[in-house]
Amino acid sequence: MAARKLRELLETEDRSLSKLVELLAELSLRIVREIPRTLGMTEGMNIYGEQQTELDVWSNGLLTKKLLRSGLVRQVASEEMETVMTADHGEYTVALDPLDGSSNIKTNNLMGTIIGIYHDKPLPATGRDLLSALYFLYGPYVEAVVGTKSGVYLAAPAGRGTGASKFISTGEPHRLPQKGSVYGIGGSRDKWTPRVHEFADTLEKKKLKFRYGGSFVGDYNQVLCSGGFFAYPELLDAPDGKYRLQFESNPIGYITERAGGKASTGKGRILDVEPVSISQRVPTYLGNKELVSEYEDLSRTSLGLSAER
Ligand code: F6P
Ligand code: MN
Repeated sequence: MAARKLRELLETEDRSLSKLVELLAELSLRIVREIPRTLGMTEGMNIYGEQQTELDVWSNGLLTKKLLRSGLVRQVASEEMETVMTADHGEYTVALDPLDGSSNIKTNNLMGTIIGIYHDKPLPATGRDLLSALYFLYGPYVEAVVGTKSGVYLAAPAGRGTGASKFISTGEPHRLPQKGSVYGIGGSRDKWTPRVHEFADTLEKKKLKFRYGGSFVGDYNQVLCSGGFFAYPELLDAPDGKYRLQFESNPIGYITERAGGKASTGKGRILDVEPVSISQRVPTYLGNKELVSEYEDLSRTSLGLSAER
C-alpha cells in the first residue's frame, strides 16, 4: 500500500474526526517544540497530589482552550483538571492526558499526549463507547498512533504541510506482532503482588526482554511495535494501580484491541469498566492476547490470594 497523509486516511473514514485529529496533530507539534523551553517546575499540584511541571500546565491549557474553541468539541476532561469543561457547540467529547510521562522532562526521556474521543457522550464514559483514541509519542521523532474502528495507523511528521497533513502513514493498519519480544511492568518491585512477581518470572522464562522507561506511551509503544506485555499493575499499597481509566487505560486499551491485542484489569476487559468518577484508577495489563490471558488465568489461582511472596 502507498504512503498516505494521515489526514486523507482519516477523511475517508470520518470527515469531522479527521478535522479534530488535524488540530490535535498541530498542537502536539507545538507541545514538543515547547519542551526544551520550559524545564522549570511550578508550585502547582494536580488533583492526584503529583507536582505539575510548567509544561503540564501549559499543555493542558493549550489543548483545552483550542479544543473548546474549535466548534468540534463540546466537553473536555483532563487528567490535570478537577472538572469537565464545556463549550456551547461540538459533536465530540475528549478525554486528555496532556503530557504523559512528564517526570521524564529532566532526563529527556519519552513523553507523549494521550487522547480519547467520544461522539456525543458525557464524561466520564466507558471505553466501549470510544469513537477513536490516539497518542502522540515525543521521541526522537513525534509519532502519531491513531486507533479508529478500521484499525491502528502509525504516522510520522515526514511530509510537507502542517498538522495531520504533515503526518505520513503507510496506510496499512498496524497489528501487534504475533510473537512478543519485550515486556515492562511499572511500580516498585517490593510493592508488586505475588502474582505479578510470578508472571514477570514467566515472561523471563519465555525470553521476553525487560524494558522500562517510566513513561506509559513510550513503554507501551515498544510493546505495540515489537509485541509483548506491558502493565501498571495492582500494587500491595495501591490495589487500583496508578493509571486513570478515562485518560490513560481506556484510550490505550482501545488502541490495543484495535491492533489485535488484549487490554485487561487483570479480571476483565478495561473497556467494559463502568466509570464511577472522572479520576478513578484501574490496574492495567496490555499486550498480546495469549500473554494477557495467561496473566488473567494466574490471577484466578490461589497464588494471587496470598499477600506474601
Ligand atoms: O501516569 C504517569 C506516569 O508518568 C506514566 O507515564 C508512567 O508509566 C508512570 O507514571 C510511571 O510510574 P512509576 O514512576 O511509578 O514507574
Ligand atoms: Mn499519564
